[in-house]
Amino acid sequence: MSTELIKVTINGRDFQVAKGARLIDVCRENQFDIPSFCYYADLALQASCRMCLVRIEKMPKLQTSCTIICTDGMIVTTQSEEIEKAQRSMLEFLLANHPLDCPVCDRGGECELQELTFDWGNLEERFIERKNAKAEKYLSPMVANDPQRCILCKRCTRVCDEWMGEEAIEAGNRGANTVIGTFGGWLNCSQCGNCIEVCPTGTLLDGTYRHQHRPWELTQTISTCTYCSDGCQMSLGSRGGDLVRIVARDRYVNGHNGEFLCVKGRFGHPFVNHEKRIRTPLIRYQKGGRLIPATWDEAIRFTAERLDKVVAENGQNSLGVIGSARLTNESLYVLRKFATEVVETENYAVDDASSLKPFFENLGGELSTHRDIRYAKTIVLIGGEPEELQPLTGKQIRQAVRNGGANLIIFNSVPIRIREQASQFIHIRPGTEDAAVLSLANADNDALAAKKMGIDARDLETARTAINQTQGDVTIMFGSELSAAAQAIVAQFPYLFAAEGRRVLLHPLPLFNNSVGAHDMAQGKARSAIDLLAGAGQSIRAMYVAGSLLPAHLQEHPDALAKFDLLVVQELFETDTTEFADVVLPAASFAEVDGTFTNSGGLVQRVRKSIEPVHQSLADWIITARLAKELGVDFGFERSSSAVFREIADRIPAYAGLRYPLLKDESNPVQVKHAIAAQRDVSNEMNAIHGSVEALPDEGEKSQVTPSVGHELFKPGTLMSKTPQIHLLAAGNPVPESFAISPLYQITIDDNLKRDPAVA
Ligand code: SF4
Ligand code: SF4
Ligand code: SF4
Ligand code: FES
Repeated sequence: MSTELIKVTINGRDFQVAKGARLIDVCRENQFDIPSFCYYADLALQASCRMCLVRIEKMPKLQTSCTIICTDGMIVTTQSEEIEKAQRSMLEFLLANHPLDCPVCDRGGECELQELTFDWGNLEERFIERKNAKAEKYLSPMVANDPQRCILCKRCTRVCDEWMGEEAIEAGNRGANTVIGTFGGWLNCSQCGNCIEVCPTGTLLDGTYRHQHRPWELTQTISTCTYCSDGCQMSLGSRGGDLVRIVARDRYVNGHNGEFLCVKGRFGHPFVNHEKRIRTPLIRYQKGGRLIPATWDEAIRFTAERLDKVVAENGQNSLGVIGSARLTNESLYVLRKFATEVVETENYAVDDASSLKPFFENLGGELSTHRDIRYAKTIVLIGGEPEELQPLTGKQIRQAVRNGGANLIIFNSVPIRIREQASQFIHIRPGTEDAAVLSLANADNDALAAKKMGIDARDLETARTAINQTQGDVTIMFGSELSAAAQAIVAQFPYLFAAEGRRVLLHPLPLFNNSVGAHDMAQGKARSAIDLLAGAGQSIRAMYVAGSLLPAHLQEHPDALAKFDLLVVQELFETDTTEFADVVLPAASFAEVDGTFTNSGGLVQRVRKSIEPVHQSLADWIITARLAKELGVDFGFERSSSAVFREIADRIPAYAGLRYPLLKDESNPVQVKHAIAAQRDVSNEMNAIHGSVEALPDEGEKSQVTPSVGHELFKPGTLMSKTPQIHLLAAGNPVPESFAISPLYQITIDDNLKRDPAVA
């Protein structure tokens, strides 16, 4: 929007507003209430509900403020008898077919239609004709539908199209018979539930939570998603010690994701109160024996004695400590402190799909937040599949292209879905992502890179030209396919491509919610988890794991866990990692702890306790601190995560000066200050990837198949598998016989089906 200011008069008061501003936004920003149903910021205009009417001087009739761009000298009235009369009439029309069944509607208490009707009171209903009756049904395991409550605002269809790129839900029929639905009646989509979230009425509803609680019975706690590195803000609805619902509804939370969540964030919470949560500490007194429930005192004492013995006999470095990139910053910080200051082992690792160390050590520019992605003018995506692995990033990319006209350049070996938005999709051979970096870094490598990637070298020139001609922001993203050397080169791209009027921002796409925080908390002291597993039973005699190890890493060293003299694991559930544990300590989930996560855009955001830890579980960092105390070192945090965060802020420069109160406002998130490295000679890294690219074969098949929606999202990993509906989705979302009842009651899926390992 222009920085030029113009004068607008609203209800007799003068305002200076940006030229090009939309009238409904200006009115609301200045606290003039404008009712609306179809208007939704940053979605295409619909202008169908006619609720946002205002009077504008010199215009012949009432105008819809959602379609009006302010002009200099505009004089506007938002409240008058004439306006209210028109709005009341519109509402009366909207209610003509509405069943007015608020007492049995799940949206009752947080329904925009109900609110407006109640706010005005005394609303006439003069229609005496029979209402159109339509049966309630399910559109998918996640989406329930009561079509007669629909006011045809089409927020749902626009969100599905513009945010998700799926066009799975559409309006059918005409006039008074128009209904929102889907082809064949069954939704085969990514099941994000965003159509449910933005629906202002009780037409689209959460099918996993239907008729369970009323919204006013829930305690709402603002927190951060535990699944991917996008770090969506969400409201955790709890009741009686149970987490029962997650929404991003803007009446409760106003984070960088707006009302967006994906299927994992919105529906993946039943693991929190799941019956299979580990209830007490468990000790296996003899290898091969059973795990026996124990008290916390016994378990801590037993673990400390055994750790002491291993270290006394084999030295400090015989102990390995591995943290999961899912844990909070506080837990990872305390774990690393335990490793380096209590046992003083050099063998500390974070288990993640790839290390971000080479990227951050060479970081030549700022990280791109999700807001930056939305307003970028050029987006370069090398590898990765954000629509499945970082869905908010996918949504921001789509909106940047669709609403902002951004150029999207994709290098990928698979025709991923988001290529449909790309101005340039460069279809490369599998495993040649480093070649893309090699050529972007230096055009002299174009011929070699093009040969290995199996593309036309002119495509590389086109991509470079698009970057170099950008006025505005360029965001460069990369997935975990890049080698360490290629990551280091990308990190220096701002020095190569930035120019006057062009910022170059970087956005890694790590796998976990706290991959970036895990890197930060390690302070450069993390080794690779695979290396530690490789030393099992030899140099490493005991292992202390907080979280579980990635299935892929365990597959690389299948016997490693059985080889340790002592294996201690903190977990929520029994997993492949706890199977060989001598001690299992019940850890609390993200919904039961206070702390912070740092997302892929460097935003450090609060995790807040929504319910008390279930059974006997404890926050990971509290367990580690108890163990440290038993070994003679009192960290002195006194069960206060804010005390841990204070120490993080004192000791880790990127977090300097931060405190929990400064992170209070999720609508104004704080980006940590990662050190910007000076421009440096990357010729060593260039030589390294030049060599590895040269060694690649000159031939190779490219996948021509676009991966199916949900092929990653619906993998039932340790946490997601606790949502019963996810098993239906993972099994291909079979169409039930009847849409009237939840498919869960009609289709039985074998929980134990062996599927690809998932990470979540
Ligand atoms: S759940 Fe998501 S993808 Fe499916 S119809 Fe609704 S908005 Fe579209
Ligand atoms: S289903 Fe909800 S969001 Fe969609 S058109 Fe109807 S009222 Fe609007
Ligand atoms: S996009 Fe990522 S952070 Fe957001 S809800 Fe989904 S899994 Fe959670
Ligand atoms: S909000 Fe303006 S017409 Fe619906």
